[in-house]
Amino acid sequence: MKILNWKENINEYELDCVIDTLKSGGLVIFPTETVYGIGADATNSKAVDDIFIAKGRANDNPLIVHLDNKNNIEKYAYISNEIEQKLIDSFMPGPFTIILKKKDIIPNNVSAGLCTVGIRIPSNKIANTILTYSSIPIAAPSANVSGKPSGTDIDDIKDEFNNKVDYIIDGGNTDIGLESTVVKVIDGIPTILRPGFITKEDIMDAIGVVKVDDNIFKKVDGPVESPGMKYRHYAPVNECKLVYIRDNEECIKYFKDNSNNNTVIIGSNKLKDIECKKFLYYGNTLEEISHNIFRLLRLADTYNPELILIEGVKKEGLGLAIMNRLVRASSYNYIER
Ligand code: TXA
Ligand code: MG
Repeated sequence: MKILNWKENINEYELDCVIDTLKSGGLVIFPTETVYGIGADATNSKAVDDIFIAKGRANDNPLIVHLDNKNNIEKYAYISNEIEQKLIDSFMPGPFTIILKKKDIIPNNVSAGLCTVGIRIPSNKIANTILTYSSIPIAAPSANVSGKPSGTDIDDIKDEFNNKVDYIIDGGNTDIGLESTVVKVIDGIPTILRPGFITKEDIMDAIGVVKVDDNIFKKVDGPVESPGMKYRHYAPVNECKLVYIRDNEECIKYFKDNSNNNTVIIGSNKLKDIECKKFLYYGNTLEEISHNIFRLLRLADTYNPELILIEGVKKEGLGLAIMNRLVRASSYNYIER
């Protein structure tokens, strides 16, 4: 395994090596604007199997296929109606995944046996360069061992993938920090299966109608539209509790009453003076929180606290995606009032 530093520049010689590796069925961890992905040639089912093994991922949980540009979508999937076309035109390239009816060229293990496939066109320069120069559709889940927070920084994930992949490309901290919005058009309505940086409000503005899948805050088992929702996810090793209390004073009091020198607090500056083992500042805006949160969940574990107390946010705009990840990170140990 080799770590390539492309933070400043994409090294052309190394780019050739990465592309050769993908063409011969290898695995490469690469940055996108959302989180790092662990990628392989989506048309090579053996290479795709290796992704599932490296991540320890359940094989009923499908992967997203990454492409270099929208003109190539119909090589791999059917665009079946105007709403799908409009979503593609409005939000791709970018942190957006559309679920489409798949063509046979996509092997069944990519889509976990479903007749659909998730398609995403990343806007990140490194991801886009690899996709463009290789002309390979790249199947890539988030780069994290299943159950862990997604990787947004190489230092967080290089140990968990040590020698399980051929290359890790370091492109620095990822911009957005949360995975793409996953949308499927169901009965003519764009339905958010996983919230992300492209918000419900953005889709409403572009299409005039939008729905959020009922399961995004529920514990589910059995069949669901997005199999990823069934699994324990984003979770630190130590116990977490998520707290969203609208009233400021009451919120500060709750954190005070529930922390001690064995508690890590992740939150905004209003909690910074509370006595605890470690206070981790997550930012002031929803964008900053989204950018920092997965890294901080991992960092919190390094203090090995009895409890990680996390300040929740309002479930609006990007707040919906942040809360979706945090509710799962805390394994539904969550209060809201
Ligand atoms: O931002 C992202 O989307 C990142 C980067 C690397 O692109 N990728 C990512 O992949 O988050 P992953 O595998 O960690 O999450 C994919 C999610 C899962 O919840 C999965 O169940 C859902 O998308 N998904 C994939 N294909 C699907 C399909 N055909 N139907 C429904 N849900 C699907
Ligand atoms: Mg993931």
